[in-house]
Amino acid sequence: MQFFIDSADLDQLKQAQATGLVDGVTTNPSLIAKSGRKIAEVIAEICALIPGPISAEATATDYDGMLAEGRYLAKIASNVVVKLPLTWEGLKATRTLTDEGTPVNVTLCFSAVQALLAAKAGATYISPFIGRLDDHGADGTLLIHDIRAIYDQYGFDTKILAASLRSPEHVRGAALAGADCATLPPATFHALVKHPLTDKGLEAFLGDWAKTGQSIL
Ligand code: E4P
Repeated sequence: MQFFIDSADLDQLKQAQATGLVDGVTTNPSLIAKSGRKIAEVIAEICALIPGPISAEATATDYDGMLAEGRYLAKIASNVVVKLPLTWEGLKATRTLTDEGTPVNVTLCFSAVQALLAAKAGATYISPFIGRLDDHGADGTLLIHDIRAIYDQYGFDTKILAASLRSPEHVRGAALAGADCATLPPATFHALVKHPLTDKGLEAFLGDWAKTGQSIL
């Protein structure tokens, strides 16, 4: 499973990148707004920092506007993935940009049939929003299972990018359901390594080791 970081904060991204486990980045208009920076500048810096796919979202809602913004964003760096919303206009723009050789991440996916449409439009990634579905009283992880089954049944190679993941439990669910990638807020990414028994076990091992008076080197 590939791990992407869902952030437009360069410091947070550098910290996550230092683990050696980051495969890419996703951003959205809210994250760009939070950064307080110009989208082209911040996306260029992220693309230079992390060599994997970097999603940058268009904000136009009509086909022509999405195409123009998508083409502009794609020119920022060769690893930009244009992110488009799951609307008819977004799907039409997905087909055109994909045919031009630009990878597209179709975002704001909340149903299996929406994911089917995105795959038929040629999307490179589909982003089902697990946490927001759970907030809505639905089962976000079940959606990943459904999309996996549909994509496998018809041989679609669109990658399932589990998004809106709020906890390690969400990541577990997405991994078991067969998501290809997971995009995580930095706090969720760092929380993946945590387990109280790991801390307790390490403390006990080091305590016993200290009693031996040895040192390995
Ligand atoms: C993904 O591409 C989105 O940017 C993100 O995962 C949304 O997460 P949220 O529901 O926590 O805002």
